[in-house]
Amino acid sequence: MARLIDPVMQPDIARSGPKHVAVIMDGNGRWAKMRKRPRLFGHQAGARRVRQIVEACPKLGVDYLTIFAFSTENWKRTQVEVAGLMRLFRIYITREMQAFVRENVRVRFIGDRQRLDKNLQALMDEAEALTERCSGTNLTIALNYGGRDEVARATRRLAEDVAAGRLSPEHVDEETLPRYLDTCLLPDPDLVIRTSGEARISNFLLWQSAYSEYEFVDTLWPDFSAQEFENLIQSYGSRVRRYGGAKP
Ligand code: IPE
Ligand code: IPE
Ligand code: MG
Repeated sequence: MARLIDPVMQPDIARSGPKHVAVIMDGNGRWAKMRKRPRLFGHQAGARRVRQIVEACPKLGVDYLTIFAFSTENWKRTQVEVAGLMRLFRIYITREMQAFVRENVRVRFIGDRQRLDKNLQALMDEAEALTERCSGTNLTIALNYGGRDEVARATRRLAEDVAAGRLSPEHVDEETLPRYLDTCLLPDPDLVIRTSGEARISNFLLWQSAYSEYEFVDTLWPDFSAQEFENLIQSYGSRVRRYGGAKP
């Protein structure tokens, strides 16, 4: 039962800022609608916002930033919107790749890549390889990501290891399972922010956010500023994280 005495799971006043912040970037469609423009116009504005938030991370002490760009459920949208989003992801990755290297940002993707088109998959591989040695902010982009899908894929691979005799069932526990998740190289998020006023997690980082702090803000993602991000990071400092323990 080693995890019960794991020091990171002891009650703790979150004096220092969050090391890992995850963001559900929501509200692009409503932002566009307010301007009587197509939804894709909102997605373009949303994509432009990302750079400012990434750039704010180093001075705020945020080492890991994970952003939800496309969920496994977002395929339900119209073909026009999905195709526009996929095109936007290709343009965004192509355009930002060099900037990430300049800014020392290490990029990773989580989610199921199989269903994405081959050109996009190739760009994702290229961005990961190009930034592999970057030692600054760890930016993780969740693309065709769903928490349930991730746990199911992880369980399948874990079951394959058990069936092949590489893992014994007694060793399947809270430490082993997350090694099979897409996020195996990342710490759990300390703070999860969702914009646009919706108070739900929509299948984002289900396993990983078990003890995350949450902030739901009304701002639509294309209006979310570096200043608002900084304010949320500051207010995290007064939270008491108990992990089921008693108040210190
Ligand atoms: C978030 O904005 C971006 C994606 C889900 C791709 P939405 O497109 O969900 O915007 P709203 O919620 O309709 O305003
Ligand atoms: C969550 O937003 C997914 C992303 C931000 C990529 P959605 O807009 O898809 O979530 P729901 O449908 O409102 O729950
Ligand atoms: Mg939405």
